Formats: sequence, C-alpha cells, structure tokens
Amino acid sequence: MAGGLPPLNSQMTIDLNISEVTALEEQYQLATYKKMPIVAERGEGCWIYASNGERYLDLYGGHAVAGTGHCHPHVVGAIKQQADDLLFYSNLVYSESRARAAEKLVSIAPDALTKAFFCNSGTEANENAMRMARMATGRENVITFGGGFHGRTADAISATFLGKYRELGKPNVPGHLRAEFGDIESVRALADDSVAAIMLEPIQSMAGVRMAEASYFQALRELCDERGIVLIYDEVQTGVGRTGQWFFAGGTAGAGVTPDIITLAKALGSGIPVGACLITDKIASHIKENDLGTTFGGGMIAMAAVSATLEAIASDRMLDNVRAVEAYLRERLKDVEQVVKVRGLGFLLGIEFKENAKAVHEALLERRIITGTSSDPKVLRLLPPLCLRKSEADVFVDALGSTLNAT
Ligand SMILES: Cc1ncc(COP(=O)(O)O)c(C=O)c1O
Repeated sequence: MAGGLPPLNSQMTIDLNISEVTALEEQYQLATYKKMPIVAERGEGCWIYASNGERYLDLYGGHAVAGTGHCHPHVVGAIKQQADDLLFYSNLVYSESRARAAEKLVSIAPDALTKAFFCNSGTEANENAMRMARMATGRENVITFGGGFHGRTADAISATFLGKYRELGKPNVPGHLRAEFGDIESVRALADDSVAAIMLEPIQSMAGVRMAEASYFQALRELCDERGIVLIYDEVQTGVGRTGQWFFAGGTAGAGVTPDIITLAKALGSGIPVGACLITDKIASHIKENDLGTTFGGGMIAMAAVSATLEAIASDRMLDNVRAVEAYLRERLKDVEQVVKVRGLGFLLGIEFKENAKAVHEALLERRIITGTSSDPKVLRLLPPLCLRKSEADVFVDALGSTLNAT
C-alpha cells in the first residue's frame, strides 16, 4: 500500500462509519463468507452490540464458539492476566497455565481419556486424531460418514463427505472410506484390517443436526473393539457442554459409549483459537517424542482461556441451564405450527420447517436475531451460548411466531 502504516506515535485509528468499515473489509479481505450486515463492536452474554447502536440476540455464537457467552468476565480476566504475565512460549518449556488446562480437561472427560494434545483448531484436532490412529494401528484407512464435516485442511476435508466440501479439497488424500450415518451394516462392510479409525460427528451438525439411535454408538464401539479399530468422536461442535453434558461421549444419547479419541475446538477457548484431542493411555503409548508437534498449540493465552472457560461453565452451572432451557424451548416451539420437528440435543438444535429455513433465518435477522442455517434447506440451526436464559428463548420464539405469521 502506498505510504504504508503510520508511525506508532501518530493517531492510529479514527473511528470509521459503518459503510467505511464494510467497504474497507470488502476491499482488503478475501471474500469467503456471505456476511450479515452487522458491524460487530461489543458482546455480552447472548448479545452482540453493533456499531449502529442496535443489539442482536446471538443464537449462533460465531460458528458455535461463544459457549460461555460473549466476553464472560472470568474468561476475559484470565486472558488479560495471562497476557500481562507471558503471551507465549512453546511446548519446549513447562507452564502452569498449560498444566492446569490439561488437568482440568482430562478431569471432566470420560475416565478412559487420560491425556490431552493441544493444537489450534478443529481441523487440526481431527488431522492429529487420524494420524494418532494410524500410528497406533499401523493401518491407513479411515471410515467417515455421508453428511459429516471434519474441517478444511487436506486430510480432514478428504474425510468430509458433506456436499461440495470434499471436491474443494481435490486432489484428496487417499485412505478415506465413506459409510452411511446411522447404518451399522454400511460400516461393517468396510471395516476390514486396513482400517485404522472410524471417525464421526456424534450429531451431524452442518448436515442439518442429524442424530443416530443410542444403540448405533454401542454397535460402533463393539465393531471397533472386535476389529482393533480406533473410534474417534469429532466433538468440535458437541463438546464443551453444548449437549447439556461436558461431552456427547459417555452420555445417554450415545449409550454411555466412550471413544478412544475425542476432538475439540470451537467453544473450548471462548473465542481464543484452540483445539484438542483427548486420548486413552493405550493410544498415547504409541506416540513418541517428535511424532506430533505444533508451534502454537498449548500456548499460554489459549491455555488460560481453556481453564477459565471450563471454570465459568462449571461455576455458572451452565450444563444445568442448557438442559432446562432446551426443555423450555422445545415446549414453546410446540405451539409454532410451522415447526415440523426439533432435532438435536441441548443447545445444538435443528428446527425443521416445511420449507425454506433460509427465509426464516433472514426474517429473524431483520428482527435482530442471529441464527444459523445448514446444508438441509429446511433446517434452521441454533447454537446459542450455554448461558441463554428462558427470557431470551422467549424473545426468539415470539419473533419466530410473528415472522412466520407475517409471511
Ligand atoms: C464438527 C466439526 N469438525 C471440525 C470442524 C473444523 O473446525 P475448524 O473450523 O476450527 O478447523 C468444524 C467446523 O465447523 C466442525 O463443525
């Protein structure tokens, strides 16, 4: 850019108006998403405050990241404190911040998962999980499922059999086999001694919040045990309290089944990028020094955010809140006649309409409510912060009713 950046001692920023921000971002940032017409300035709990003075009820959480709500004071305080102490040092040194985050994460995980590996995103967590499964078994193939989404880096996108994504990752990494979600026979047919891992989203979120029977998870566990295959749950969306339990793994919706690896990201750092794999001792025993690595994974700021996120969820009793407000929301949605079905668990909900959820999403946005769509055109997705109150759920259901009755 002609002239470059101004010197540090000059006035760095002059507030831009809304159209200037929009124009600048469109000019200089590569366009990847269709953006909502909101210039986000501040957040608190389930609310986003825009620079035009409007506030928006956020039932999407910035791609399911704002689990503790926006700017939870305990999380913000911990990040500020850590920033004062030490921004970063890599895994070449020990750190109290990292030690505490790993201990906390393992302490809330199902008993068999005893070690944490930290990275920076969901796709990286999945890549590392698949790699660990290959190292542990000496096999190469990974079975994933039609409708599943696992990320956009080469191996993870090759494991993604949802819509156009896999095509976008061409040429794909070899060694990926597709089975059908909920259909154990389709898995059995592929699960020979070339298969290192079966990896799945226990609730397929982007596919439209698709669920499987509890007995299906039991059958997957038995198949993996019988054939020496590593079972990986991609809990990037379902983890960290979203289903009203810390993880889908171990819960009743999944017949209490524990996988060999859980992958996490999104809500884990309340907005600070962080991903993780939780693994068994058995898998860990196959991983030697230098087999895996990362520059930023396990950095102090991210680790402070992880600990504070878990503490905030526990101390504010957010898991209880998720279950209570989910039940309330489901009850209230029974009165909305255009709603065909409410899919999902906890605060990962897919509201199915007779048609066109995108139009509902847009009409709600005009009423200043942020929701999500999915690859199923009839399903509106809600991934609100875990602190959503009944009164805020009422704001949504009332707006939904008036939106639908107006069209
Ligand atoms: C289930 C699931 N896995 C993996 C990912 C990839 O996570 P990230 O975007 O942090 O790489 C996503 C992202 O939406 C996801 O929903």
